[in-house]
Amino acid sequence: MVGFGVVAQSFADIITEEAKKLERDYGLRPKIVGVVDSKGAAAAPEGLDVSKALQAKRSKGTLEQLGQGIYSEGRNALDVIREVECEVVVESTPTELSKGEPGLSHVRAAIREGRHVVCVNKGPLAVAMPALMELAHHNKVMFKFSGTVGGGTPVLDFAKKCLEGSKIKTISGILNGTSNYILSRMAAEGVAMKDALAEAQKLGYAEADPTYDVGGFDTACKLVITSNYVLGTQLSIKDVDTRGIADVSVADIERARAKDRVVKLIGKVDKDATVSPQEITTTHPLNVSGTFNAISFDTYPAGEITLVGKGAGGKETASAVLRDLIEIRRTFAR
Ligand code: HSE
Repeated sequence: MVGFGVVAQSFADIITEEAKKLERDYGLRPKIVGVVDSKGAAAAPEGLDVSKALQAKRSKGTLEQLGQGIYSEGRNALDVIREVECEVVVESTPTELSKGEPGLSHVRAAIREGRHVVCVNKGPLAVAMPALMELAHHNKVMFKFSGTVGGGTPVLDFAKKCLEGSKIKTISGILNGTSNYILSRMAAEGVAMKDALAEAQKLGYAEADPTYDVGGFDTACKLVITSNYVLGTQLSIKDVDTRGIADVSVADIERARAKDRVVKLIGKVDKDATVSPQEITTTHPLNVSGTFNAISFDTYPAGEITLVGKGAGGKETASAVLRDLIEIRRTFAR
């Protein structure tokens, strides 16, 4: 596990709590042999004591003093990815969108070492998704990233697997839980944007750099990932015309309300890829509140199909990591 923040810790909780069920239903007995966080790393070939790792992280904020095969200072994620024998690397370091680093180097190193990768970090995909897909194919490993779009809501595999045979003409959606939470709080209580953002940060929804949420870049990332995965485009974040919610005021929201409308941050791919605040009617299928995400696929011949679910949160997103891991396990068991 590279990155041990909100999502990774929730994932560690789930596999501990659900251990019996995972083994019984999926033959999955995950063993965590290495954990890297921003301060250091711990590794043990026989498997780390996950409860101790969580306790150390939560009480001391670090894995140091875990007392189990601790790497000396200076060892970084790349050393651990290369040297610790493992089948899958879960990459969940914070998203960085200019170069996708350090996640991009982690993912590349893992794939080149022949490890399968479950990536929750959007940065590597936003800047280099086609190249990473190609690298994984070439190295015959699985590269999964369900948790990058929709939190726990299975947006990517829903569109890819469940809409087979249909033509998807356009994709539009609310893909950032934080800005939807902010707009909802502004609309319901007249809360100021900065206060609503502080709440979202406290609840663990916002990015490490919250301008990614408010500036629309997180939505742009998710649009790129969805479009490339589902429509086979080769977009990167630079191709998306992006405007966030920073300029939306409570007065704008009130004006929309007078017309029976709401203001939402909508990402859309048709001929172009765009992100911008839009007014939609209150009965529109994308009118979801709080951290909910909603994504509509305009399909032929089935028409519009909308998927709704929680788009941010540790436990929610960790469920996507687990789904990916189960798929890797099933594919290789076959
Ligand atoms: N900051 C993101 C959001 C987290 O608010 O949607 C989930 O990708």
